[in-house]
Amino acid sequence: ASVGDGYIGKGIRPALTLLSGKFYNYDFEKLLPMACSVELMHTATLVHDDAIDKSSVRRGHATINKLFGSDVAILMGDYLFSRAGEFVADTKNPRAIKLFSHTLGIISSGEINQYLSQFNIDQTFEDYVQRISGKTASLFALATETGGILSGAPEPAIDGLREYGMKMGIAFQIVDDILDFTSDQATLGKPVGSDLSQGTLTLPSMLLLKKYPDNNPVRAIFEEKGVNKPEKIKEAIVLLRQSGIVDECYRIAHDYCDRACAALDVLPSGSTSQEALRGLAAFVTARKD
Ligand code: IPE
Ligand code: IPE
Ligand code: MG
Ligand code: MG
Repeated sequence: ASVGDGYIGKGIRPALTLLSGKFYNYDFEKLLPMACSVELMHTATLVHDDAIDKSSVRRGHATINKLFGSDVAILMGDYLFSRAGEFVADTKNPRAIKLFSHTLGIISSGEINQYLSQFNIDQTFEDYVQRISGKTASLFALATETGGILSGAPEPAIDGLREYGMKMGIAFQIVDDILDFTSDQATLGKPVGSDLSQGTLTLPSMLLLKKYPDNNPVRAIFEEKGVNKPEKIKEAIVLLRQSGIVDECYRIAHDYCDRACAALDVLPSGSTSQEALRGLAAFVTARKD
C-alpha cells in the first residue's frame, strides 16, 4: 500500500477474520460484520493512541487530535468504538460479543500499562511481550478467534486460530517497533522515533541498552525524560543501525511468525486459507509500512 491520499490502512485484521472463517462453515453474513467490527475497533484505538501520544500524522494525513484537539479525538474514538459494538452485535453471537468486550478491556489495560511504564528503563523482555500482547496481539487474536467461532469451528481449531492471532500480533508489533527506528515518515505515514521520545521502551531499545550498557543515548533519553531529545534520538537510531540489533529483532519477529504458523497445524490442511494465513505471516515481517 502507498501511504497518502485515500489510504485507509492495510486492513490486516479484517482479512484475518475473513480468512480464519473459511476453514469450516463460511458464513459471510456473520463474518462481514465481525470483520468491520474488528477494523473499527482498531481505528478507534488509533484515534485514542494518537491523542495520548500527541501525534500529528497518521496514514499520511493530519490526525483528529491535530485537526480538532484531543477532546474531540477522545469523543471520536468513542464514537468509533460504539459503531464497532453495533457491528459485533450484528453477528448475534454472544460468545463473539463477550470476547469483543473482554478484548477492549485487555487493550485498555495494555495501553494504561504502557503509560505507567513510560521512561522506566527497568523492563524485561517478558514485560515487553506482555505489554504488546495486551495492546496489539489481543486484537489480532480477537480477529482470528471470532473467525473460528462464527464459522462453527471445533474447539481445538478455535484455540489454534487464537494462538495464531496472538503470535502474529506480537510479531506485528515487534516489526512496528523496528520500523519506528529504521523507516521514515513518508513511507510509514506516521512519525518515526516516537517511541523513544514518548519514553516507550521497545525491543530495539531494550537490546541497545543490553549491548551498550555505558554511555547509551537510550539511557540518556530515559533519564532526562525528554531534554535534548532530537539529537539523542538521532544518535540512538545511528547506533541501532550499525549494531546488528535490527537483524536480531527481525529474527525474534520471524520466530513468532513461525510459532503462529505452527498453531495452524490443527486446522484442515491444503486449503487456500491455510496458504493465505501462512502468506500473511510472511507479509508481517516483510512489510515496509
Ligand atoms: C498500527 O497498526 C498500530 C499498531 C498496532 C502497530 P497498522 O499498521 O495495522 O495500521 P493501519 O491500519 O495499517 O494504518
Ligand atoms: C499500537 O502501538 C497502539 C495501539 C494498540 C493502538 P503504537 O503506539 O506503536 O502504534 P503506532 O506506532 O502509533 O501506530
Ligand atoms: Mg502510537
Ligand atoms: Mg509504533
